[in-house]
Amino acid sequence: MAKISKAYVCQACGAVTARWSGKCASCGEWNSIIEEQTPSGSPALVAIRGGKGRLTSFETLAAAPIDAPRLPTGMAELDRVLGGGLVPGSAVLVGGDPGIGKSTLLLQAAAKLAQTGARVVYLSGEEAPAQVRMRAARLGLAHAPVALGTETNLANIVATLGSTVSPVLVIIDSVQTLWSESVEAAPGTITQLRGCASALISHAKGSGSTLVLVGHVTKDGQIAGPKVIEHMVDTVLYFEGLSGHQFRVLRSVKNRFGPTDEIGVFEMRSDGLKEVDNPSALFLSDRDRDAPGTAVFAGMEGTRPILVEIQALVAPSLLGTPRRAVVGWDPNRLAMLLAVLEARCGVRLGSHDVYLNVAGGLRLQEPAADLAAAAALISSLTGKPAPEDTVYFGEVSLTGAVRAVGHMDQRLKEAAKLGFARAVVPAVASDNWEAKDIRLSPISQLDDLVALFSTLPVE
Ligand code: TYD
Ligand code: MG
Repeated sequence: MAKISKAYVCQACGAVTARWSGKCASCGEWNSIIEEQTPSGSPALVAIRGGKGRLTSFETLAAAPIDAPRLPTGMAELDRVLGGGLVPGSAVLVGGDPGIGKSTLLLQAAAKLAQTGARVVYLSGEEAPAQVRMRAARLGLAHAPVALGTETNLANIVATLGSTVSPVLVIIDSVQTLWSESVEAAPGTITQLRGCASALISHAKGSGSTLVLVGHVTKDGQIAGPKVIEHMVDTVLYFEGLSGHQFRVLRSVKNRFGPTDEIGVFEMRSDGLKEVDNPSALFLSDRDRDAPGTAVFAGMEGTRPILVEIQALVAPSLLGTPRRAVVGWDPNRLAMLLAVLEARCGVRLGSHDVYLNVAGGLRLQEPAADLAAAAALISSLTGKPAPEDTVYFGEVSLTGAVRAVGHMDQRLKEAAKLGFARAVVPAVASDNWEAKDIRLSPISQLDDLVALFSTLPVE
């Protein structure tokens, strides 16, 4: 029997230390270290202490390819992010801030699937059955045949799931409420989380049920975050959005059975999440067309083009160090873009406060947004509105060159579909493009963008 000793485990990154400290030395998180009981000895020694191993047999790589069977949930946006639907026997982690709508999303998916006759189990450790029922009533799903439970004890859950015919889908909301007597740590700690998650995942693999684990992203470290079980599951989805905005984006960051970087867009309404199948139209819906400081970016999210407005505000600063604030984009990219504008194009922004915002609460990750961000900045600085029928995309390098980006045709098609007539694009990529519906303004230097604006009239 292994000796039990104390260890201090960071609930944010999983680092183990011998002493408690206020700040984790490995990830820098404050107040995230909690005392846990662990078997003594190195993990490797503990793992093989049980005795002799059994011989395993190896296989070849050459097997008949089998496509993972898919079970569509009936929510097209969710299925898109999953890569076509749920894969039997797989485990999906759905992470996100508390209150973002994870329970709503999964209850809707559970109900849709249950209405097709599939057996769906929804285990809510966070809410009482009455609360879940109230939500179901609000969503108009009170009569969906979902099996609702509130069990949080791992052994009871596994026993229950094993006692009847395996459900098609098991939803655990949330994985941080699970606990097991055989794990010597408080519920919500890393040790509990890992132990319970891995037990449920192996149960799902054995039974063929799809397991969905809900995990709250936590800031204070009192309960462990979903990051620590990302490596165990097959698919990791994050549900994000800005509080105060009704748009929610479901993003796939890991998927063993499908593409990553795919997004699903939802709108949070009073009667639940509504799928948005034309996100571009939504993100551009309340555009202020003739105000200076905005530009439309023709972006790509996974396989789907998305048009979104980038807003900038440039104003003379009263402070010694001007302010730079960004929402929805990488602050480092903004800093780089400002430096390039200053050094290569003579656009002086050093004594200006700069604010940049991506409309609708979307978070952009593509470098292709550089050109649109630059257009919004120049437009705000010069007081000249960018032409309302123009979209922008292209990556800006430190030399001031505008570089080609991928998926040019999809971006342009989406822009044309939404009524845009002109696109400012990288010159390198525009040679072999026959524009039928949309006129191109190819530029090779960021300077050319500044020149485009100098010919425009002031508002
Ligand atoms: P919830 O699904 O409980 O979030 P999570 O499980 O991620 O913590 O959703 C919480 C928010 O969603 C709550 O503030 C209310 C809002 N909401 C709606 O706006 N409309 C609805 O129909 C529902 C069910 C929730
Ligand atoms: Mg919830």
